[in-house]
Amino acid sequence: MTKAADESVIRSAPLFSALNDDEATALRASMTQVKVTKGHTLFKEGDEGDRLYVVLEGKLKLGTSSIDGRENLLSILGPGEMFGELSLFDPEPRTATATAVTDAKLLALAHDQVIGLVTAHPQASLELLRRLAQRLRKSNEILADLVFADVPGRVAKAIIDLGARFGQQKDDGLYVNHDLTQEELAQLVGASRETVNKALADFAARGWVRLEPRAVVVLDYERIAKRGK
Ligand code: CMP
Repeated sequence: MTKAADESVIRSAPLFSALNDDEATALRASMTQVKVTKGHTLFKEGDEGDRLYVVLEGKLKLGTSSIDGRENLLSILGPGEMFGELSLFDPEPRTATATAVTDAKLLALAHDQVIGLVTAHPQASLELLRRLAQRLRKSNEILADLVFADVPGRVAKAIIDLGARFGQQKDDGLYVNHDLTQEELAQLVGASRETVNKALADFAARGWVRLEPRAVVVLDYERIAKRGK
């Protein structure tokens, strides 16, 4: 990715969006760049956390696991998204494991620097609070869907959500390059791989989507969106 593209990603990130250009440049200079290769874990649930991250390039998954080893994905993050701030605002161990789904480039900012930033810039604090509120809203929705929605409904919703963030509109449909394995997609939806595959195969048989390795092409957006309501 070019430097200019990097800059536009950074400017859209929560910590930066409330700052003027000079302040954003100074903040950028105080952050360190971190590269994680596909499949590698950046930190684990339960680790001590001393920095937060902004994604510049690539995708990461945030997951938790049960005592018997089953995994649940909380979120898939892409460029401009931030994570690793909970252990700062609530000084406890990391609440999730962060693993690169593709090769990824990140910027890291030490927690004590974040404190300096939010103290000096109330607008930056408000922006962080807004993102936390959005995440809580989304978590509530996911929880309600786990209780009230069926698996195909949850799969449809996940496709729409991933499409909104990673989709590319082309002539024949919306290309949702999620980069997830079938297992990971199932962990994101909170269902077994078999049930999720069945739902996807059903959508494909109806002509709503076309399935590709690590991608879904949405051919009938309206139907999928309606199924995920
Ligand atoms: P932290 O606990 O420091 O490390 C794991 C990070 O995952 C956490 O900070 C948040 O930034 C992020 N995280 C935790 N729960 C969720 C969630 N439900 N949705 C999105 N991100 C989350």
